[in-house]
Amino acid sequence: MPLMNAVQVAGPGADLEMVQTEIPEPGEREVLLKVEACGVCHGDAIPMHGRYPGLSYPRVPGHEVVGVVTRRGAGVSGWEVGARVGVGWSGGHCMVCEACADGDYPSCEDSRVTGLSVDGGYAEYMVARSSALVSIPDELSSADAAPLLCAGATTFSALKSSGAAGGDTVAVHGIGGLGHLALQYASRLGYRTVALSRGPQKETLARELGAHAYIDTDATDAAAALQELGGARVILCTAPNVTAIAGLIDGLGMDGQLIIVAGLSEPLSFYPGKLFRGGRSIKGWHGQRPADAVEFSMRFSIMPMIETFPLERAAEAFEKMMSATVRFRSVLTMGA
Ligand SMILES: NC(=O)c1ccc[n+]([C@@H]2O[C@H](COP(=O)([O-])OP(=O)(O)OC[C@H]3O[C@@H](n4cnc5c(N)ncnc54)[C@H](OP(=O)(O)O)[C@@H]3O)[C@@H](O)[C@H]2O)c1
Ligand SMILES: [Zn+2]
Repeated sequence: MPLMNAVQVAGPGADLEMVQTEIPEPGEREVLLKVEACGVCHGDAIPMHGRYPGLSYPRVPGHEVVGVVTRRGAGVSGWEVGARVGVGWSGGHCMVCEACADGDYPSCEDSRVTGLSVDGGYAEYMVARSSALVSIPDELSSADAAPLLCAGATTFSALKSSGAAGGDTVAVHGIGGLGHLALQYASRLGYRTVALSRGPQKETLARELGAHAYIDTDATDAAAALQELGGARVILCTAPNVTAIAGLIDGLGMDGQLIIVAGLSEPLSFYPGKLFRGGRSIKGWHGQRPADAVEFSMRFSIMPMIETFPLERAAEAFEKMMSATVRFRSVLTMGA
């Protein structure tokens, strides 16, 4: 059996380790991808904590995957060998159950989550369901395309879901992999865009990415600063900190929405009465429709800012993301 390099988590609490393992075989309605790039998302920390339905070990993380179709399993149509494609968080649905036959894909009980319920893209090869694939335009490099598949898809779809109109004040909390793309989408969607970050270090870059205002949350009461700007119509929370998020509710204006995309491991605690003023609301959001994010990003020349690492430096790439020192997305590249 031919072998490949992969970076895996052996079990809960284990670190990332490079191993040699067999190149997987594509089954029915699956393709084998030769991986060219894989973004390192904060969600990749989940296999290390061991909390996710259907998670088993060893597991190869990675759900911002771009690769080339090298083999097709039975029943694959529309994706030729040689096509460059992407796969995000959703690893697709089975296409054969009753729900899939009705086009009701979210109800498919055999939905996959890339890098969690099946192996992901921290590897030289990966098997993906054809129903999960997104076409990558020729003009977009694999390393630049990778972060659009989760970070881009999540923030673009969250902002679109808010119903905010051009000119509305939209704040982005946390300037990391998701946040730096959210700033670009928000400014291109015509919002008055406010960046919220710990410390002054990211101000210049945040403004270059489209922020009209910058709030240093270490030095300023962020909610009061947002009220001085008239109150936010939307605060998109990407920073995984329940205390900071609860404090932002007071920064919402009329019909203001706090949209939580950050993965939080503790309960969010606040007085519900805070929501009465101005009809405020809180909602969670999950990354959706990566093809839309790719299309919008191409049309408005929105690119992630990335630092690339070879696969064998995956642990370093992950650590730079976890310590919020990467500018702004670590991307593993596999010799493409
Ligand atoms: N809902 C979804 O579909 C979805 C999809 C992808 C990711 N996620 C989740 O979204 C979150 C962000 O992901 P990401 O990949 O953008 O992560 P990331 O690159 O690590 O960025 C998160 C940013 O949040 C801030 N931050 C980090 N730790 C913090 C803390 N303890 N207190 C306050 N601020 C903190 C930092 O920004 P500053 O330095 O600017 O303060 C950091 O750059 C994660 O929780 C991830 O699991 C959810
Ligand atoms: Zn992600």
